[in-house]
Amino acid sequence: MPSQENIHGALPAIIFIGVKLDKVKLKHLRSKGIAGIKDSKFQSDVIPAWIADMSFDIAPVIKAGLIEMIENSVCGYPQTPHDLGLHEIFKSYVCGRFDWQIKSEDVAFLKDVVQGICRCIYSFTDVNDQILIQPPVYQPFHSLVKLTNRRLLVNPLVKSDDRYQIDFADFESKAKKAKLFIFCNPQNPTGRVYSRHELTRLAELCVANNLIVVSDEIHADLVLDSKPHIPLSSLNLDIAEKTITLMSASKAYNIAGTSLAFAYLPNKKLQKLFNAKAEAIYGNHNILALHAVKIAMTEGESWLKKILAILRGNRLFLEKYILENWVNVDYLPGEGTYLAWLDCRKIQGSSILPSKLLEQSRVAITAGSDFGYGGQGFIRLNFARNRDELISVIKRMDKVMRAN
Ligand SMILES: Cc1ncc(COP(=O)(O)O)c(C=O)c1O
Repeated sequence: MPSQENIHGALPAIIFIGVKLDKVKLKHLRSKGIAGIKDSKFQSDVIPAWIADMSFDIAPVIKAGLIEMIENSVCGYPQTPHDLGLHEIFKSYVCGRFDWQIKSEDVAFLKDVVQGICRCIYSFTDVNDQILIQPPVYQPFHSLVKLTNRRLLVNPLVKSDDRYQIDFADFESKAKKAKLFIFCNPQNPTGRVYSRHELTRLAELCVANNLIVVSDEIHADLVLDSKPHIPLSSLNLDIAEKTITLMSASKAYNIAGTSLAFAYLPNKKLQKLFNAKAEAIYGNHNILALHAVKIAMTEGESWLKKILAILRGNRLFLEKYILENWVNVDYLPGEGTYLAWLDCRKIQGSSILPSKLLEQSRVAITAGSDFGYGGQGFIRLNFARNRDELISVIKRMDKVMRAN
């Protein structure tokens, strides 16, 4: 086991004072029962590297805005997103970040992305219809299809030497049978951010087969490579007419618990179906979320830049460390997200790695099997934390991950 100094020395550690969660305070809050699920699910000596929440303090501008609201008891019924100008704010945001021109009247608001996916399933498919997904993929893609009594159709991603790829021939054959396709880009858990070439091919097949697409782009702000994220819907009018894009500030700004997401669907027929149920069914939006998202999208950019720099450094650090030390682990760093998808199939007993890591290393990770086909023997590690804490995570995992 290399010394801490060696680990630090492998790459310059980027540690920004002020983005780190205060552990002492966290412990105190936990003892009072005030903690999110990341920090409360396991015993307090366990480092949580499982759920897709970051272990960073939120942006000071968002914190100040929320504190001002609480201090002034602004906890009553909210204004509408429209009153707050959130349609226009979202429009400018996606134009600035993704060079995506949208119409603000085609933006809808949701509690969260999972609600958006579920609403699409109910709005655009019937019981027993087939819904296409690309495992390994975010668990609710699987469970929502089952929950709504639709049938799962899978187009597994294929692991090649340097990255995960879409099997387009298989996609084409499945697209003929499916009613809806739930797409994930940037992809959870592999971290893939698809190229224009891949997206164009996918879009052509969806249009040719009259497939409606739910494009979950919740990780869009977390692209770590220099290539930008490309919204599927931005490619051309044909695919835009077929696509419901789901986005949110929750991942990039670490505010998932406040709950607010955006849906963009320019097709008026789909809009009518999507909005067929009375608004009241979905309830009011969380007043804190509305303001947190407004601040994130108008004032959060410099904070996000700092976070992305930390994540880039961590990804590189992890890649180098694993290559040199965990010889039975294969890590293909994705172009985005803060999730490392580790192929541990060469480690003996890889299926019990998650419980071994929890019991022996006191690190909670997510089991690859949660992501469906192609996930057995993998683990997903969340590296959104300061470098010193990432080093603690790795040191704890070392013994289990090196064992054969
Ligand atoms: C791909 C993907 N979609 C959706 C979600 C959940 O989003 P929300 O909390 O807005 O439902 C996550 C959370 O990790 C995710 O990774």
